[in-house]
Amino acid sequence: MKTTFLKLNKQPESNGYLDKHQFKDEFFFNLDVCFDSDTYLVSLTKSIPPELMFNENYAYYSSLSSTMRKSFANIAKSLKNIYKPKLSLEIGSNDGVFMKNFNTNEIVSVEPCGNFADFTNSLGYKTYKNFWDYSLSTHIKNKQGTFDLIYSANCFSHIQTLDDAFRAIKNILSADGVFVMEDPSIQQVLDKNTYDLFYYAHAHVFSITSIQNIILKHGLEIFNVDSINVHGGSNRIYIKHITNNTHTIDASVSKHIDDELLCGIGVLQTYLDFEKRVRKSKKDLVLLLETLKAKGENIICYGATAKSSTVFNYCDISTDLIDCIVDMTPDKQNKYSPGMHIPIVSIDIGLTDDVKYIFLGAWNFKDEIMKKEPEFIKRGGKFITHVPIVHIINE
Ligand code: TYD
Repeated sequence: MKTTFLKLNKQPESNGYLDKHQFKDEFFFNLDVCFDSDTYLVSLTKSIPPELMFNENYAYYSSLSSTMRKSFANIAKSLKNIYKPKLSLEIGSNDGVFMKNFNTNEIVSVEPCGNFADFTNSLGYKTYKNFWDYSLSTHIKNKQGTFDLIYSANCFSHIQTLDDAFRAIKNILSADGVFVMEDPSIQQVLDKNTYDLFYYAHAHVFSITSIQNIILKHGLEIFNVDSINVHGGSNRIYIKHITNNTHTIDASVSKHIDDELLCGIGVLQTYLDFEKRVRKSKKDLVLLLETLKAKGENIICYGATAKSSTVFNYCDISTDLIDCIVDMTPDKQNKYSPGMHIPIVSIDIGLTDDVKYIFLGAWNFKDEIMKKEPEFIKRGGKFITHVPIVHIINE
């Protein structure tokens, strides 16, 4: 049974960066989050059509962050060494940040965003410009056979039709093959009060337990789990056919599942308690920003993220409190943030000498960002975050 436990107000498409003339056509939906007591899956109550989010205008380039480049290079190297795949498949290849660690004849990918699919195809990597589903898996299987390694990072949490997506994995994974998926962890969301991980592109935020519950019925099971420090805390989950005995089931699987159950991942009350903390986070953030603003301080946001879109629209924070958002992504610059229409500019333009406070819209890159801005820190600049509670970091 599904129960809604969190209502994050009306929210726009969180990656929909706008020109002024597009304000009038912007659409909003109530962003509600529910818990399924059968599978323990946490999902949005309603979704919007994927074509509205994942298209040729998708503006998030994984390669822009050195943290992400390093993380993808390391995992590619490690997976190649351990599993020695003849042919690999990546689902959701973005701008090729993972795939580029393979030769062009060793990997193919699936990517519905036209800008990225065209780009990686132009580099010589066969990229299917499609959404991942069962019929596509059959099409690819007919052309290329089955795959020894399938990798998908920050993609399955976007997929609304999960059963079909896992059936497609079952269809195309070789008998000894390994499917590795990594996505933000709901346990981390609960621990860090990162309610901003909920936005329209994230149809679900997974626990390991919920994935296990869902994939067992498709003849798949988890055999290993790594906790990783990406997107504020994610799980890298290794999956195989139940019938495959080549990979033994690592102790990490029961350890993670036991930990999750102990934290109340399967109990509605856990989520109701979280909802109270989210409401407090909103109150505290608005109060802090209003107090600083009343003292005449200039506050900007660092990182035009989907996460900050959730925060600003939920907390009703607009240009009265945040002067602008700075972001290094060229496709986001000189646009306006979804819903609250805060101007987005390059860091050089937005981070002027009179800025005293930076709200970390990309709090998951806190260390990388703070390292990049020693001058701001030297002149007394302060960083604000709401993770895990609202506070000034370097006070
Ligand atoms: P991301 O963390 O993927 O957020 P979301 O998934 O919530 O959209 O996006 C990080 C954003 O922050 C991206 O637009 C790039 C930007 N960014 C900078 O502008 N400078 C930086 O140093 C870093 C690390 C990120």
